[in-house]
Amino acid sequence: MDDITALILDDHAAFRRGFARLDDARGETDLRAVWDPLSLHLDIHAEAEESILYPYLVRHGDASAGEETDDAIGDHNKIRDAIAESRRHVPGTDGWWAAVWSARRENSEHLAEEEDGALADFRRNASRELRAELGARWLTFYGEHPGGRDLTFQDKDPQAYVREHR
Ligand SMILES: [Fe+2]
Ligand SMILES: [Fe+2]
Repeated sequence: MDDITALILDDHAAFRRGFARLDDARGETDLRAVWDPLSLHLDIHAEAEESILYPYLVRHGDASAGEETDDAIGDHNKIRDAIAESRRHVPGTDGWWAAVWSARRENSEHLAEEEDGALADFRRNASRELRAELGARWLTFYGEHPGGRDLTFQDKDPQAYVREHR
């Protein structure tokens, strides 16, 4: 069974490829064909991390885990907001590109921080068994929410989230 940090890295690689594909897409139909699944995947991924990874990082991580989690939820909020804004515009228009670039910038920054901070911390501090168990839960989460079904993609208060899971 893959551990959860490997599964998260797989998603991150898919996000980088997705944003690169947008550079090659031309016209509303092509842009929509790339952005709709990519933005949905970004939203589901953040929700999965908030349900499965970060509650355990807060408890099992090192002294900076609270701060890493606070930063991550704040970043997820910015990415969610940019995705929601993109959905108010027609793909290819200036307003749409502004929102998509905002999501792309926030996401690129966030992936680097998460990979070097939260994921590295979790590998150092969580047991192999826990990483595998959460990996299995990660796969189940995607299976239970096909196309984001039953997920609302709401922003969360970072400090309240950390307090709640401590
Ligand atoms: Fe992530
Ligand atoms: Fe994240």
